Amino acid sequence: MDHTRRVYNDVFEMLPGPENPSPLVRINAMSVPGATLYAKLEWMNPFGSVKDRAAWAMIRELERDGRLTQERGIVEPTSGNTGLSLAAMASARGYRSRMVVPNKVPLEKKVLLKIAGADLDVINDNLCPSPGMGDGSIGLAKTHARAQPDKYAMPNQYENEANARAHMETTGPELWRQSDGKISHLFVSLGTCGTATGCARFFRERNPDVKVVAVQPSEGHDVPGLRNKSELHVSALFDESLLDEVMEIEHELAYTRALDLSRREGLLAGPSSGLIYEGARRYAERDPGAVPFGVMIFCDNIFKYVSNMIKHMPELAEGTTA
Ligand SMILES: Cc1ncc(COP(=O)(O)O)c(C=O)c1O
Repeated sequence: MDHTRRVYNDVFEMLPGPENPSPLVRINAMSVPGATLYAKLEWMNPFGSVKDRAAWAMIRELERDGRLTQERGIVEPTSGNTGLSLAAMASARGYRSRMVVPNKVPLEKKVLLKIAGADLDVINDNLCPSPGMGDGSIGLAKTHARAQPDKYAMPNQYENEANARAHMETTGPELWRQSDGKISHLFVSLGTCGTATGCARFFRERNPDVKVVAVQPSEGHDVPGLRNKSELHVSALFDESLLDEVMEIEHELAYTRALDLSRREGLLAGPSSGLIYEGARRYAERDPGAVPFGVMIFCDNIFKYVSNMIKHMPELAEGTTA
């Protein structure tokens, strides 16, 4: 495939991989003296987030196993991004999809799931679906899959090794190549932990000197997709032994730094990217010179969080009506 011309036969050919990496952009106005930080812009993926990688790997695995048919589609618990990737991919391949979403997920994400063709179950649950909660999003998705096995297969991003493998086979090799093997630090967030675990496994093999640092929000946060460590025992893909450090950042800063990145860098980053930036900034400031080539995974952009931004910064809504 010739990615220089960017002419494709279908949207799936646009998915990221070592031959077609998502962009790496250096931080300038918000740089840290003595450090070089790059943002990997995962929102440039065709369905708008880092989750294109896991969703595609999980769909391909289900297809390989013959578990997706015109009759049997997908059911999945999601805080939005995985669901959006899965729903759009399923629609384009002729499968039905049903997404189980916590009520606190921003309105934009819920509507986008419907636009992409998913049926929606909205329930009262934690912001990031909690495995083990009988009546939570994960429990309800499992109930649908169990009660109607002819109608639904459940990829289950929280337990599916294909999620981590996607990052081992795409995100890690992309970063290695884009940095000419110079990457020194990787800053990630923790949701299903597919990104952290998959990338860390890749770098352990390729160059164990690369430090993998996870940035998590303080408890009580409202950043969809992320988990505080106290909630992480529930993700089967979480492996703390692969991480060099887990930093906790006051959760309000996710939205503040997202706004800063938009206004100062021209990077229209979402709140999990804002949080990761703040973690990377503090890490780099601790020891000037210690981060020669740091990469932050910027999972999605701010477009899906306008209602959350207005909650945090009501002044943004001022002057928006005639
Ligand atoms: C916006 C956002 N950031 C970060 C993450 C965390 O990524 P992972 O699930 O690979 O840990 C997610 C996961 O849903 C997400 O939607």
